[in-house]
Amino acid sequence: MNVLLIGSGGREHAIAWKLMQSPLLTKLFIAPGNAGTALCGINVPIAVDNFPALAQLVRSEKIKIVVVGPEDPLVKGISDYFKDQDDLRWVGVIGPSESGARLEGSKDFAKQFMEKYNIPTARYRTFSVGKGNEQMEAASAFIRSVSPPYVLKADGLAAGKGVVILNDPEQAITELGEMFDGKFGQAGKKVVIEEFLEGIELSVFVLTDGNSWLLLPEAKDYKRIGEGDTGLNTGGMGAISPVSFANPDFMEKVKTRIIEPTINGLKASGIHYQGFIFFGLINVQGEPFVIEYNVRMGDPESEVVIPRIKSDLLELFIATAEGKLNSKELVISKDSAATVMMVSGGYPGDYQKGLPVTGLELATDGIVFHAGTTISEKLVVTNGGRVLAFTSVDTTWKKALKRSYKNAKGVSFKGAFYRRDIGFDL
Ligand code: AMP
Ligand code: GLY
Repeated sequence: MNVLLIGSGGREHAIAWKLMQSPLLTKLFIAPGNAGTALCGINVPIAVDNFPALAQLVRSEKIKIVVVGPEDPLVKGISDYFKDQDDLRWVGVIGPSESGARLEGSKDFAKQFMEKYNIPTARYRTFSVGKGNEQMEAASAFIRSVSPPYVLKADGLAAGKGVVILNDPEQAITELGEMFDGKFGQAGKKVVIEEFLEGIELSVFVLTDGNSWLLLPEAKDYKRIGEGDTGLNTGGMGAISPVSFANPDFMEKVKTRIIEPTINGLKASGIHYQGFIFFGLINVQGEPFVIEYNVRMGDPESEVVIPRIKSDLLELFIATAEGKLNSKELVISKDSAATVMMVSGGYPGDYQKGLPVTGLELATDGIVFHAGTTISEKLVVTNGGRVLAFTSVDTTWKKALKRSYKNAKGVSFKGAFYRRDIGFDL
């Protein structure tokens, strides 16, 4: 079977690496891919949101399964686009319809959904830019009436930058004004203000065909750029799986209070959902709350979750597309996985691209997933903020992490940086 995987990050390299091991795979195409995915299949230079060109590739290469890595094409309706083409509606797209993708594409929609289906999350109110100054005044009054910290979230996609947490009410009001004025473009014209939850975060994933679901390994992501979880938020600087506090008692609460009501709520809302759901959770004294939904796998979580899956991922994707996931089981390795992300100097701010990466041939004690690389004149060069993810699997996460660090040590490019404290809080 021929498969198309959409995306170009570490998540996509991890998925491509896994698909490549399936005896069911004939040819794997990755659009646009990176220097790492080129080792697993054929990279095709098509942008993730160029639906007509992707559809043309699916036609000409007789592709049966399309796996959508990032959220952007999902929020723009790639699933519906394929369903609307008479000759392509039989293609199995792994990723929800535009209506399902609103779980990630609109924070306000996600909050209303959770409220409706009784899914534990922080209390909130939504304010939108309206006529006159009414909403600004109502929001200011609301901010002054609740205690800090104040969590402000731009409603739409804002490349991971749309959440601002502030302690001072006046600063929060100023920030809201800037969001309304277009700091995050259209995404911030509606703002969710919510209660701050104190706890430790984890990422939980399911693969669903809309009825049945399989629980994937959970992971912990390290989001801040600096050691000790300091500095600016990034897409993620490293990850560990499994997560020690995700014990059976906690995971049972996650299943019954969060996963099942979410799947049932989607069905009850008439939303057809086939693909991954990523639950961004926070553990508040043993009780799980949803911080956010994503409609895709996490990155760098995929780089630790996928290597722990023993089952054939392509077989699971086929079952998802056919609505037969209830007949499948997910076999997960008992081993632990760790990944350490090497990033460009300056990230998450401005950084240089096109820098040659050296030493990759020395990194043999684990897997190097490429996140932001490309090939230029036969050399691997940097092509993004997050460049390489050093993953290792071992009997304990500490052993795995040690090997990831050993591997990372031999690889470099100008300005390369990685956190040396992944797992520090576990
Ligand atoms: P989000 O994009 O919604 O995942 O938010 C980004 C980050 O902000 C999360 O990973 C949390 O660390 C933090 N955050 C978001 N909402 C809350 C909340 N209600 N309480 C505490 N921290 C939060
Ligand atoms: N690592 C967090 C995310 O993928 O959104």
